[in-house]
Amino acid sequence: MAESGTDIIKAAHILSSGDIVAIPTETVYGLAGNALNSDAVLKIFKAKNRPHFDPLIVHYSSFDSISAQINGIGKQAQKLAEVFWPGPLTMLLPKPDNIPSLVTSGSDLVAVRVPNHPLTLQLLANLDFPLAAPSANPFGYVSPTSAVHVNLQLGDKIPYILDGGDCAVGLESTIISFENGNPVILRLGGLKTEEIEEVLGEKVSFNTLQHSNPKAPGQLDKHYATGAKMILTDDIESEILKYPGKNIELLLFGNQISDKYSNINLSKNGNIDEAAKNLFSSMRILDARNPDIIIAMKVPETGLGKAINDRLFRASVR
Ligand code: TXA
Ligand code: MG
Repeated sequence: MAESGTDIIKAAHILSSGDIVAIPTETVYGLAGNALNSDAVLKIFKAKNRPHFDPLIVHYSSFDSISAQINGIGKQAQKLAEVFWPGPLTMLLPKPDNIPSLVTSGSDLVAVRVPNHPLTLQLLANLDFPLAAPSANPFGYVSPTSAVHVNLQLGDKIPYILDGGDCAVGLESTIISFENGNPVILRLGGLKTEEIEEVLGEKVSFNTLQHSNPKAPGQLDKHYATGAKMILTDDIESEILKYPGKNIELLLFGNQISDKYSNINLSKNGNIDEAAKNLFSSMRILDARNPDIIIAMKVPETGLGKAINDRLFRASVR
């Protein structure tokens, strides 16, 4: 087990020495290292067992610290930054020279964001470098939304976990890129598409399913895996009938109830934001009950619903 606590000075010390620390954000916990130091970045890839073709998001303390480093930030990106940072939005911007190409897997675009968590913002303000940080889970598994989740999976690989409590949003950041001036969402996430469109005053397009040979890497279909086989359906009743005699766990939403099967409801009163916050921890709890299969119900596609279904879909791909 790794030590965990709220000691920012200790975390800053470890990071400055080139080692890695798990950090809280409003979306999910990240596994952080000095983004300007290739050795630290290598430690991140190694601890996660993550392939080098899958690039990392770089976290800064403010939009000002980003614009001091990055040239050529377009009007659209600027607008979004002003409204949504700190917050669950990641943008692809021109990579500055001081970021090693290991971080971007060779791309000349770097994914950046300002996370919205008081501890991590304080930590970043204490550092003279930005933090590269993927979600703090072994590659391909469910993202962690608490310090305990991080400790269970990576506790023997890292010296310290900065414990900021449960993540408020519970889904990874929304990733957006600008291709010839057109906003393209590469990953659905904690910031709703409608909010982005409202600020930009235009529709965005989507390029979120990259299958197994990704152009924008990391959007592999299979992701967020639980140990147990997971099935995503919009008709739980008929899905259950396909598995007689199996040990089934259900992931429910809203007024759906089951007195026959063990289950968790993501939000009994049908609140999508609450469902997002509960999603990953619920998947972990169901998985720990060791069922033969987990059957998950699709949630309505309003607000964060699309992003939730995206995670459930990826978790169900084998
Ligand atoms: O909310 C989040 O974004 C969390 C917290 C810790 O900030 N981070 C996170 O990182 O989810 P990760 O590594 O699990 O997912 C980052 C995604 C990957 O799919 C990666 O391929 C993509 O962002 N990405 C990162 N840099 C990229 C780049 N330069 N070009 C295209 N995609 C990039
Ligand atoms: Mg991840």
